[in-house]
Amino acid sequence: MSEPGTTTSEAVTLELPDADATRALGTALAGLLRAGDLVILTGDLGAGKTTLTQGLGAALNVRGQVASPTFIVAREHPPLPREDGTRGPGLVHVDAYRLGGLGELDALDLDSSLEDSVTVVEWGRGLAEALADDRLEIDLERPRGAVPGSGAGSGAGSGAVDGLEDDPEAGTRTATVRAVGPRWAGVDLGVLRG
Ligand SMILES: Nc1ncnc2c1ncn2[C@@H]1O[C@H](COP(=O)(O)OP(=O)(O)O)[C@@H](O)[C@H]1O
Ligand SMILES: [Mg+2]
Repeated sequence: MSEPGTTTSEAVTLELPDADATRALGTALAGLLRAGDLVILTGDLGAGKTTLTQGLGAALNVRGQVASPTFIVAREHPPLPREDGTRGPGLVHVDAYRLGGLGELDALDLDSSLEDSVTVVEWGRGLAEALADDRLEIDLERPRGAVPGSGAGSGAGSGAVDGLEDDPEAGTRTATVRAVGPRWAGVDLGVLRG
């Protein structure tokens, strides 16, 4: 038996060598997610949170271009009909940075209900935990070139030997996927390894 708030399956760590790999993780996630699910994406600016959500949105076949939710609180992507005419869940893409708490989502009066959607929250850590017993937590990290342009000191060439620090798009990412709550009991995240 699993208790709310506890990790219910093995965490999975994945190497994402390029943006396509990040998108592919989003695609793979679509196979696990269903209406009512919550995904919390954590990672620095440029870590790949929006890129992952783009892969997810494409695989869910939702309307509209998934973009950075900055300057808006939440963007709704309703499901488009599949070839057989049925529709899967829509996507609600939230910038938690602008949200005081997940409860505020209700106050936004979205057209789509969260029960009928997959909800993805960028920068959601520390915010959604208390409000949702069931969630997928995905941490995106850049092991190298962690802070673009920081230069790691001012000495000539220091910290920029391979140029990663100067290129915000460069650098393999590591994704760690963790499932929490009874909804995920017995779900094998290993399928995300592709
Ligand atoms: N695994 C990866 N390897 C290299 N570049 C990546 C990877 N994933 C995403 N990117 C690139 O990093 C940039 C920032 O990604 P983005 O998804 O906007 O980050 P975030 O939403 O976390 O701020 C984009 O140009 C994207 O193509
Ligand atoms: Mg983003």
